[in-house]
Amino acid sequence: MNASKNKPDKVVIFDTTLRDGEQSPGASMNLEEKLGIAELLEEMGVDVIEAGFPIASVGDFEAVNEVAKLAKGPIVCGLARSARGDIDRAAEALKPAQQSRIHTFISTSPLHMKFKLRMEPEEVYQAVIDSVSYARQFTDNVEWSPEDGSRTEHDFLCRTVEAAIKAGALTINIPDTVGYAVPEEFGSLIAMLKNRVPNIDKAIISTHCHNDLGLAVANSLSGVSAGARQIECTINGLGERAGNAALEEIVMALRTRSDMLPFTTGIETTHISRASRMVASVTGFAVQPNKAIVGANAFAHESGIHQDGMLKNAQTYEIMTPESVGLTQSKLVMGKHSGRHAFRVKLEELGYELGENAIQDAFLRFKSLADKKKDVYDEDIVALVDDEVQSKKDSIQFASLRVICGSEDPQTATLALTIDGALHQVTAKGDGPVDATFNAITEIIQHNARLRLYQVHAVTEGTDAQAEVSVRLEENGKSVVGRGADTDTLVASARAYLNALNKLIEKREKTLPGALSA
Ligand code: KIV
Ligand code: ZN
Repeated sequence: MNASKNKPDKVVIFDTTLRDGEQSPGASMNLEEKLGIAELLEEMGVDVIEAGFPIASVGDFEAVNEVAKLAKGPIVCGLARSARGDIDRAAEALKPAQQSRIHTFISTSPLHMKFKLRMEPEEVYQAVIDSVSYARQFTDNVEWSPEDGSRTEHDFLCRTVEAAIKAGALTINIPDTVGYAVPEEFGSLIAMLKNRVPNIDKAIISTHCHNDLGLAVANSLSGVSAGARQIECTINGLGERAGNAALEEIVMALRTRSDMLPFTTGIETTHISRASRMVASVTGFAVQPNKAIVGANAFAHESGIHQDGMLKNAQTYEIMTPESVGLTQSKLVMGKHSGRHAFRVKLEELGYELGENAIQDAFLRFKSLADKKKDVYDEDIVALVDDEVQSKKDSIQFASLRVICGSEDPQTATLALTIDGALHQVTAKGDGPVDATFNAITEIIQHNARLRLYQVHAVTEGTDAQAEVSVRLEENGKSVVGRGADTDTLVASARAYLNALNKLIEKREKTLPGALSA
């Protein structure tokens, strides 16, 4: 990608869900989950996927490397500090990519240079030139970021940006690293760079705004109005602390308000809901119901006045359609009489591409669900298939659970598991049925992981709804999220806990000492 090749009104969508998003405490994803998200980002038409920070860990290296093999349309990007070792590692991970980008950064604000880097401005200036020139030996497509850019002195920012472009950076990303900027100020910063940096027309200016004051999207859009043509963002606004600018909000704002924001993106917006669900499910970070675009209530109309208006003309209270973000009313209603063919068509409609065996297993679970539950909604099928697909690969598998609970003590759980095919059964007591169930698991699989999150979400309405449970376990500073779904909340809880344990075991085998983050 090159500044002059872009259409003047096209905004490049740079997704950093897999890098900055994954840096949110507790939001770690395994390789398979990252690849699933990358695949969906590609389908959506994201221009650049920042797939990780290869020097940070074996897992990050592997993720960038595998996404590089997988992605055909998007540019695959790896993050690197200014050190040669970081850049070497990013270049190595990106080798298989059809189109690759190295994104290198160094702090430029007085505060960061003095206290974090302990470097003089002139040393930082030299590091900018050296790192960008070095990265250019591996790829033509180099992006440079002045970390804490929004709190950097303007003269120094202009000097470093000019030097980075001269050294070969094609994209200059301006991070509001701590989410401190306000929209007018951030727009003016971009305008200032456009006015003062002599070679700025040789690069695309990008925004990377954090959401500490809830202004990440507003700041990014202000940046675009002032001349930026790339926005760095994440699905559901995932990211460090309060997160990054939310991709879905950026894209739908540009689309819905093209009168005020005359810019285009290449995003197929009908994939937005699916991407949001996938990221929420993988990370265990539930989307708040009133979240713009992807919250459960984003298109719900409760009050009588609003419902009346909607019935007369949807535009009275709807500025965009639910269909435009992929919320379609399915014509295929599933129930216990639905056959294999209808089930297969439904899976396709929901965007699943499964092999024959997986379809058969999922179908058997669907039949058993349909026996227990009168109406099987799309959400039920998504929860069921996700659970089936992810637990299939686990070496520790749920077999059965019987729980005695209620107001009389003791609460006990009799649990059976298979570990690599061998059946193990125990009965354990606990302070309540969930505690008894988790204690039973720990009796069979001894471990020291701490339970950091236990979250139950009803997939649909009604007392016969499936429960979708997320469990986050943490061990030695590494966390994993497990998920499980079932009409029985305790079975779903056991499945989620086991899924997390399976991931933890996998992670133990891959961890490098001294991992870091940007
Ligand atoms: O927030 C930030 O400054 C970053 C940089 C690495 C771009 O994430
Ligand atoms: Zn960031």
